[in-house]
Amino acid sequence: MAEKSSTKSLTTPEGEKNGAQADLLTLDYNNLTHGAIGDEGLTEAELNTMKKALTSAYKQFEAARTKGLLPFTELPSNTLIPKMCRKLADNYRQKIEAVVVLGIGGSALGANAVYSALRSTNHSASKADKRQWPRLLIADNIDPEGFGALLDGIDPSKTFFNVISKSGATAETMSQFMVIHDKLQRTLGRTSIKDHLLITTDPQNGVLRKIVNANDYLSMEVPPGVGGRFTVFSSVGLAPLAMVGVSVYDLLAGAKKAQEDFSKPVLANKALMFAGLNWLFTTLKNKGTLVMMPYAEALSKVADWFLQLWNESLGKALHLDGSPAGTGQTAVKAVGVTDQHSQLQMYMEGPRDKSICFLGVEKFRGEVAIPKVFKDYEELSYLGGHSLGELLNFERQGTARALAENGRPNMTLTMPKVGAGTLGYLLQTLMLATVISGTLYEVNPLDQPGVELGKKFTYGLMGRSGFSDMSERYRKGLSNKSRYIIL
Ligand code: PA5
Repeated sequence: MAEKSSTKSLTTPEGEKNGAQADLLTLDYNNLTHGAIGDEGLTEAELNTMKKALTSAYKQFEAARTKGLLPFTELPSNTLIPKMCRKLADNYRQKIEAVVVLGIGGSALGANAVYSALRSTNHSASKADKRQWPRLLIADNIDPEGFGALLDGIDPSKTFFNVISKSGATAETMSQFMVIHDKLQRTLGRTSIKDHLLITTDPQNGVLRKIVNANDYLSMEVPPGVGGRFTVFSSVGLAPLAMVGVSVYDLLAGAKKAQEDFSKPVLANKALMFAGLNWLFTTLKNKGTLVMMPYAEALSKVADWFLQLWNESLGKALHLDGSPAGTGQTAVKAVGVTDQHSQLQMYMEGPRDKSICFLGVEKFRGEVAIPKVFKDYEELSYLGGHSLGELLNFERQGTARALAENGRPNMTLTMPKVGAGTLGYLLQTLMLATVISGTLYEVNPLDQPGVELGKKFTYGLMGRSGFSDMSERYRKGLSNKSRYIIL
């Protein structure tokens, strides 16, 4: 059986004090090994192959990092950005009830993941801080019913809007911005817009920067060289999170620790091992799908954030040398225990094309005891005296074991509990793992050329100048296929 990844005790960041030192994350990959799942499991020889590949990938990563090509790795140590975000929060929080983020993809998912995970615990910086914080609303879709309802539910005079777009060209975010700008102008007057708007975009390029410069709007920068899905620890994630009371310092402390731990040897390095194991199971064992399955509702949006990170970074048509790739591993989401009663049957007995990553927590921030009632019914009496958290964790462990006994590979990432520090650690670990995976698959994890064509068709259909050929091309394609539309 392969050696279990070891983790050392880490300093518990501020805000998660429990009087002791705790690991911020553990990775258990026993259920990927030959000993646990049989024929398809990882052998010692394969582990050694993976180790060599990871050692080489790590060297390439470090070479790129020292040349300044991976600036997302520096964000956890940046002290200026969190300071600016806290200042922003101090300036505005008393005057507003809600912060609305207008952004999509990497410009929205990070803040959404962290906020969703922390809001159930009042998400304030510390327990001593009893002040009310604004709520965060993230408009990451342009569905007119959803966006319309969001608009109806806010009072513009008590709302702060953070428009986030690195390119400044994203049709969804820009159309939302146009709606909001017009609404602010009509309800509060042109001069008051400045008190309700922060624009986060490229420091120099794009139409949003032009608008900032022309109107002297408050702005922050998306750091050059950091793609949307790697920006959660830049002003993109930190500004809205700070404004709603998340301890951005705790978040960054966890991320910094993950960055430091990234220098550990391969078998003790969670980011490397997460990348290497999934790569090996994809390429050697045909597990083209990775199911990310949190067993904590608080982590559901973290899984959404991961899905974008993994899929947009690794699904690529071309290798770095230009040869055809078409590789990668499709990440999908399931939530325990809900999807035990929905998707699990397929994972247990369907095609053997999946690997599962459970995301668990040791301790829940709130508990519900199951009372010792119905003692005379042995079908129920075993539940009494336990708690719902215990049941949830036993279900996770039981499911992992059942999958393993069925020869289905799975691993588990466990956080001691959900908190800003543990989330920071998890997110940075997964970002590092994603870039390492790009090296293993020999693709560029930092671009997303595959989403461009659809955007161009949209521009054509919306009548953007210079894209009339795309609307022509669209209509041509439609006429070829129209006989398949059942009316
Ligand atoms: O990860 C990415 O790069 C993308 O998901 C972008 O964040 C997304 O397309 C939004 O782009 P922008 O920030 O330019 O509006």
